[in-house]
Amino acid sequence: MMTDRLEVEDSTTPLKQDSSWGSISEVVNAPLIDVAQDEWWISIVFFYLTMLLWIVSTLPALCCTCLFCAYLIGSSDCGCSIMFSVLGSVQRGRPLWLAPNIYRGWLSILWAFILNGATRLRLFKWEWQAFGGGEYWYHGEGVWCWSYARVQKILQGVQERKSAFGCVRASIPDMFATNNLVFLPNTGPESEWKYIRWALHQTILADAEKRLTQLKTKLSENWLKPSMNQLNDDTFLQGLVAKSCFWIYFNVWLDDVDTEIVARWNTAAKMCIFPRLVQRIAFNLFINRMKTLREETVGLIEKHGLQKLFYDMNNSLPAQYKRTPVVKLCDEIMFVLCFAGVNGATAGASSCRDFLQCKKPAESDKDNIDFGNYPTPADMEAAYKKNSIRYIKEALRLDPPVTSATTSLATDETISLAGSSRFLEKGTLNQYVLSMSNRDPKEFATPSLFNPDRQDLDKNFTWNGAFGVQSRAEDEQNYPRICPGRYIALDIISTILDMAVGNTSPEQSVPETGGCLGCP
Ligand code: HEM
Repeated sequence: MMTDRLEVEDSTTPLKQDSSWGSISEVVNAPLIDVAQDEWWISIVFFYLTMLLWIVSTLPALCCTCLFCAYLIGSSDCGCSIMFSVLGSVQRGRPLWLAPNIYRGWLSILWAFILNGATRLRLFKWEWQAFGGGEYWYHGEGVWCWSYARVQKILQGVQERKSAFGCVRASIPDMFATNNLVFLPNTGPESEWKYIRWALHQTILADAEKRLTQLKTKLSENWLKPSMNQLNDDTFLQGLVAKSCFWIYFNVWLDDVDTEIVARWNTAAKMCIFPRLVQRIAFNLFINRMKTLREETVGLIEKHGLQKLFYDMNNSLPAQYKRTPVVKLCDEIMFVLCFAGVNGATAGASSCRDFLQCKKPAESDKDNIDFGNYPTPADMEAAYKKNSIRYIKEALRLDPPVTSATTSLATDETISLAGSSRFLEKGTLNQYVLSMSNRDPKEFATPSLFNPDRQDLDKNFTWNGAFGVQSRAEDEQNYPRICPGRYIALDIISTILDMAVGNTSPEQSVPETGGCLGCP
C-alpha cells in the first residue's frame, strides 16, 4: 500500500490568494466560445424529437460504404449533393438549417466506431478503406491523413493549429482550456506557442532530470513489494504514474487523496473526443465533470503552494501573451501536463505492462499485433531486460497512447476522396494519424511485427516526431512540436516496469545529459 506522504507543511490551510491569481471557477464558467448553430439547444431538442429517423437512416451506412461517404462528403461532385453532407455544413459554417447533415454524418461515424470494437485505429482503417484507401478520408469537420511522408511533412513544418481536437472544433472554455499549448500555431520564434513552450521548459521542466534520478527511491518508499500482479490493477498503475508525474513536475509526492484527482484525468480525457453537440445530447455530464476536475487540479497547485511557478512563467511572457488572471495560465499548463502528460504516460505504461504478459491491450488493433519471436511472458521479459527503452518505444509504436492530432490545411487544396475530388479551403481541419504512420509499410519493415531490435525503431512518430540519432536537441530541431515529455515518459514507464520485473540494469533513455529534458 502507498503511504500518505506530503511534502508540504500543512496541506489543509489554504494559501492566502493574491487577487492577480484569479478564480479558476470563473475561467471554466466563462461564456462559451465558437458554438456552431447546429449545436444550439434548439437543435438538441429537434434531434431528440427526430432521433429515430436519423438512427434508421444511418444504420445502413455500415453495410454500404458509399452511403457512409455520401453522408460525409456528398455522393457526387454536384454542389447540391455536397451541400447536404457534413462537408456542405462545415463549408457554410455549420448553420442550424443544415443540422441534419451533421446528425447523419456523425451518427454514421458512431456506428462505425462501435462496429470496430470501439477501437480508434480500427475505425480509422475502416474509414480509410471506405474512402478508397488513398491519402485522405473525411471525418468530423475535416480531412484525415496517414502516410508517413505526409505526416512527416506536417510534423516538420509550421502547423496552423486551431482550438480543435479530434478534427472537430473544441468545446471551449468549459471542456478544454482555451489557449492551451496544443491549440496554438507554431508560426515562428515570436509566436505565442514558442513563448509558452519555452516558458514551460524554463520552469516546470527545468529540474525534471534531477527529480527523475530520485524517482526510483520515491517509488521504492511507497511501493514496498513491487510485482506485475499489482500493476495489473489499473487504479494502482494510474496512481503510480500520477504520483510520478507530479513529482517530476513539481517536486511534490502526492498523498492518495490528491493522487485520485490527478489520476482522474485518465477517464475524463476519454470523453473529450466528443464534440459539443454530443456533449449536449448527454446533458453536459462529461463537460461538468471536466470543469470540476480542472478546478480540483488547480486546487492542488494552490494547496501545495506552487503558484509562484506560474507567476514566473507569466512574467516571462511578452505583454501581448500574458494571462490575466494568472490562474488562467496555470489551468492551461495543467491541462496539457495532465491531458497529454499523465494520460500519455499512464496509457504507455499500461500498454507495455500488457505486452510484457503477452496480452494485447484493450483498445489496440489486436489483429495487427504480432508478438513474433516473443510468444511467452518469459521471452517478453528477457527482451525488456535486454533494452527497456527500445522495448517501450516498440510497444508504443504498435499501440501509441496518442493516436492522432489536429492541425489545419496551410493552403487551399483539391483532395481526392472516395473517387471524386473536393475543394477544401485553407484552414480546413486536418488530422494526422500517428498510429497509422507508425505502421506505414514504406517506412517500417513488417510493420505489425513486435521487434524491439528493428533498425527503423526511432523513426516512430509516437511522440509527435521521430527521435534523433545524436541528441535530444536534434529531435526538436527536426520536429518543433515533438512531445517535450518524451524522455520523462520513457523514464517514468521504465522505472515502474523495472521495479515490477526486477530489472537490475536499467537503461538510459536520454542520449545526452544536462539541462532541461525537453530543451534543445
Ligand atoms: C508515453 C507518453 C507520452 C506520449 C505518447 C506523448 C505524445 C505526445 C503527442 C503525440 C503530442 C502531440 C499532441 C498534439 O499536438 O495534439 C504531445 C504533446 C505534448 N506532450 Fe506528450 N506524450 C507523452 C507524455 C508526456 C509527458 C510525460 C509530458 C510532460 C511533460 C508531455 C507533455 C506534452 C506537451 C506539453 C505537449 C504539447 C507540445 C506542443 O504542442 O508543443 N507528454 N505528446
